[in-house]
Amino acid sequence: MPTAVITGANRGLGLEFARVYLAEGWTVHAGCRHPTKADALRKLKGDLHIHPLDVDDPKDVKALGKSLGSEPVDLLLNNAGIFGKRDVKLGQLDYDEFQQVLKTNVVAPMRLAEALADNVAHSRQKKMAFVTSRMGSIGMNSAGGQVAYRTSKSALNMAVSCLALDLKSRGVTCLLVHPGWVKTDMGGPGAAIEIPESIAGMKKVIDKVVPGDTGKFFDYQGQAIPW
Ligand SMILES: NC(=O)c1ccc[n+]([C@@H]2O[C@H](COP(=O)([O-])OP(=O)(O)OC[C@H]3O[C@@H](n4cnc5c(N)ncnc54)[C@H](OP(=O)(O)O)[C@@H]3O)[C@@H](O)[C@H]2O)c1
Repeated sequence: MPTAVITGANRGLGLEFARVYLAEGWTVHAGCRHPTKADALRKLKGDLHIHPLDVDDPKDVKALGKSLGSEPVDLLLNNAGIFGKRDVKLGQLDYDEFQQVLKTNVVAPMRLAEALADNVAHSRQKKMAFVTSRMGSIGMNSAGGQVAYRTSKSALNMAVSCLALDLKSRGVTCLLVHPGWVKTDMGGPGAAIEIPESIAGMKKVIDKVVPGDTGKFFDYQGQAIPW
């Protein structure tokens, strides 16, 4: 059966991703910052391997790579992300936090992609999926605000667009996927859809993706999103 590496797997979308891939019989390497506190994750049934993984910490990323060794990874699912403070007005931007959001949402997924590129390239499915956001679409930005988060997801989109080209010759398919507005801690209780609907949709998109789709930006229903 195939193998997935999932970041931020202790709650929200990452936890449900882990649950559905395990339920299909996949081997899942689940990363989270505090494995001993990840009760919901630890309760999942199946071929689950939990790794301490603060995606911002290069030592953790290196340790994950070492622990995987040459094991093929069919799917690297870069899911972990942060929003930062909400509704910050221009004139009140917190630049330390801005840098933190960029670090977690852009630098970290790229570091993981580099660290595990060989594992993915040596697998059967050879896929990397990055959970981005429609809020990173410049073409769809009519509201402004949420500058750090929006900018981080736009930058992630560009980073993955470059990565897709760099890894094309190795047969790796890189995909950007927007989960919808989902009822997680990040999305809040007033969000439009429930977690299982988002994950079922994203999984279908990831399942169906072909090498010719590399570098594309889709939502959870498989609709292309403008850059
Ligand atoms: N929910 C939505 O409506 C929505 C919409 C568009 C895009 N997204 C994207 O979907 C992804 C998942 O979001 P979510 O809604 O599931 O959010 P969430 O409920 O807030 O969960 C975020 C996850 O990311 C993890 N994380 C954050 N920083 C980390 C770090 N430095 N190292 C390791 N893990 C870290 C969190 O771990 P801790 O428990 O340790 O904090 C948690 O597992 C994010 O990339 C987000 O931007 C969500």
